[in-house]
Amino acid sequence: MGSSSLYRPVKIASLELTGNLFLAPVSGYTNRAFRSICSEFGADFSFTELASAEALSRGGKATFDLIQRGEMEKKYAIQLFGHDPQTMYKAALSLAPFRPEAVDINAGCPVPKVVKTGAGSALMKTPVLLGHIVEAVVKASVEALGNVPVTIKMRSGWDSSSINYPECSRIAAEAGAAMVSLHPRTRAQSYAGKSNWLHIADLVSQLSIPVTGSGDLYTPEDADRMLEETGCAALMFARGAEGNPFIFPATRSFLTSGSWEAPAFKERIDIAFKHLDLLSKDIGEHAACREMRKQFCAYIKNPPGKTGIPGSAALRNKLVQAQTKEDYRVIIDEFLDKK
Ligand SMILES: Cc1cc2nc3c(=O)[nH]c(=O)nc-3n(C[C@H](O)[C@H](O)[C@H](O)COP(=O)(O)O)c2cc1C
Repeated sequence: MGSSSLYRPVKIASLELTGNLFLAPVSGYTNRAFRSICSEFGADFSFTELASAEALSRGGKATFDLIQRGEMEKKYAIQLFGHDPQTMYKAALSLAPFRPEAVDINAGCPVPKVVKTGAGSALMKTPVLLGHIVEAVVKASVEALGNVPVTIKMRSGWDSSSINYPECSRIAAEAGAAMVSLHPRTRAQSYAGKSNWLHIADLVSQLSIPVTGSGDLYTPEDADRMLEETGCAALMFARGAEGNPFIFPATRSFLTSGSWEAPAFKERIDIAFKHLDLLSKDIGEHAACREMRKQFCAYIKNPPGKTGIPGSAALRNKLVQAQTKEDYRVIIDEFLDKK
């Protein structure tokens, strides 16, 4: 049952956020367009997908495009990945024009391309280096970013025999990290199995800086349970927000009044089109229409625990072939006419 005290402000060093419901970094999803929509729907803070420090330090334009603040995005963090403190320092300096409210360090990515360079979750195998990276980014923040908080997102450890989130978090905090986000799966688990929220509760009891919880948050009830069971200061929706920016107002409503309503089909469709429009402005209609296929389908999927929309599976089969905005419109209009 929701309790009013669970939706609350969060203070991350000098950064004051009005609430504790965040949009997690999700590569391929949390682009400008989607972050912007989530921010409008009430996400209190959002994270860019991981951006390569190597590419930024070389001035890579594609990466700079990825990390720009969304049109309606209020407060956001830019997430960097890398393995070399000097490169991370240079990359962080290059963020000045974007004026992010925080810089986040990725110590959780399990993807081979990233870990084989020693970055992402591989940083948890080298806690001393992880500390140097935090120090380097903090230095850049002091010098060029107005001393915005530097935060870090990690997993429980590399595998079940090396659970070391307490050590990595302590080192990060000593090096100046202002918040730790914990996705309590190991790198070996990738995204399978259940996340172990006991690790979040344990970390909360060990750290004096805020802890943000991540893992298996699909409904307002899940969010309520995580806040209640772990005592984390904030949480971040990841897969649970895909096609579902409505999770933010729904969760806020549940935490403050004990009830929430799923959005009507019409609203879901309207927001999916808005998302498509925003993405088209950024990457062009053709690329946006391709990229939106899976996301458009996510908007139409039944929200967990709610009754389905008859015919939505067939509708999704058609949408994955859409090439233009007009195609999307025709497919949706046809579906609505038949109803
Ligand atoms: C497709 C995908 C891409 C992700 N990309 C990132 C990323 O760029 N940076 C990061 O820190 N975490 C990333 N994550 C992890 C999520 O932020 C989150 O911690 C994880 O999915 C657990 O939450 P969930 O079970 O509620 O989805 C990604 C997860 C998925 C599924």
